[in-house]
Amino acid sequence: MIDSLEMESEHMERTFLMVKPDGVQRGLIGRIISRFEDKGFTLVACKVVQVTENQAKIHYAEHDGKDFFPNLVNFITSGPVVAMVWEGDDIIALSRIVNGKTNVNEAQPGSIRGDFAAHTPKNLIHGSDSPESSKREIANFFEDHELVNYDKIISSWI
Ligand code: RTP
Ligand code: MG
Repeated sequence: MIDSLEMESEHMERTFLMVKPDGVQRGLIGRIISRFEDKGFTLVACKVVQVTENQAKIHYAEHDGKDFFPNLVNFITSGPVVAMVWEGDDIIALSRIVNGKTNVNEAQPGSIRGDFAAHTPKNLIHGSDSPESSKREIANFFEDHELVNYDKIISSWI
């Protein structure tokens, strides 16, 4: 054990990540989830869901009233999604870097959107943009008892 590599968890957060309907239809669920596993995040809840209109409006509440809001609700309810809660230090900001920029024309190669998405708004993956959004979005899809607490200590499992 190299003590200097031990890190205290300084800013542990949970975030809501969702493979959008285009990601499910295109068969990208596994590859998208791998990006977050590769980053070292911990999956604490996951399920396939057909989003209802009411759920979609709660999910995208911060965009209510904008001209693209009706299209957004239509898109996110257009087929099943994979709703997930992930945990990690600074995961809210870091996972949005893994996702890439909203506009796929600006999304960097190496990000999910940069590598797999070709037309905005079909940008494959959602990630919460703040701790407040994260709380609202998680509560919109999961009951408390569905979130699992565990540590990943790899060596004893190999
Ligand atoms: P998301 O919430 O889906 O993770 O995406 P985001 O944070 O990167 O982007 P956000 O600003 O929250 O926008 C939510 C989704 O709305 C669509 N959008 N369309 N026409 C437009 O100007 C416009 N702006 C955003 C995108 O599909 C975006 O993912
Ligand atoms: Mg957003």
